[in-house]
Amino acid sequence: MKLLVVKNYDEMSKVAAKELAEVISKKPESILGLATGGTPVGMYKELIDMHKNEELDFSKVTTVNLDEYVGLSGEHDQSYRYFMDSNLFNHVNIRKEYTYVPNGLAEDMHQECVNYDKRIEELGGIDVQVLGIGSNGHIGFNEPSDTLSLGTHVTDLAESTIEANSRYFASKEEVPTKALTMGLGAIMKAKKILLMVSGESKAEIMDKVVNGKITTQVPASFLQMHKDVVLIIDEDAARKIK
Ligand code: GLP
Repeated sequence: MKLLVVKNYDEMSKVAAKELAEVISKKPESILGLATGGTPVGMYKELIDMHKNEELDFSKVTTVNLDEYVGLSGEHDQSYRYFMDSNLFNHVNIRKEYTYVPNGLAEDMHQECVNYDKRIEELGGIDVQVLGIGSNGHIGFNEPSDTLSLGTHVTDLAESTIEANSRYFASKEEVPTKALTMGLGAIMKAKKILLMVSGESKAEIMDKVVNGKITTQVPASFLQMHKDVVLIIDEDAARKIK
């Protein structure tokens, strides 16, 4: 794992955007694995700026997102489809039909999961996967558990995740209790992983992610086994890493 400790959120966003832009410039038809949450918002802003000022070209890019809430349509302002459209896709020259987010309203969830994995495979896998992290060590919505799934699956959200994500909803009761998420398989198969981490609330878990034993109770600890992970972390989040 390559560690880049940066000053703050803004610097993390700039460094991550640069890394991603480099991948796109080298391979314009890149398959990008994308993430939602507060962490990557600044990076998406930087990418939009690069598109507007430096002509970073998304015209051949394909994206696959990590996850989506079960029960929310793409028009719901807390759905991850809506998040991606409003934070990135609507502002760059990407082909919308080549931006994939799991369908939270699919009638047959099992089939939706099978199709999602099949699509990733048919695309030839992910060139670079962007990840944030939950303060309990989850990636995507792969929550701490006795077992982890390789494939895309429906999962119950941890109580702490519902609590953490309730800040984006009008009330805690409105937070969906289930989500569709890519499994550890597709994430670990990505050629490169950019893990972005910012803020005090992530400091506790980050020592376990970087130095702890690899355990399903800390899903992000599996990233220790990936050969090309760049961890871009700000000083507040890095404070407890030994
Ligand atoms: C969410 C998402 C994750 C994200 C994490 C942290 O629940 N499913 O992909 O990395 O929680 O979110 P934030 O960046 O807002 O702290």
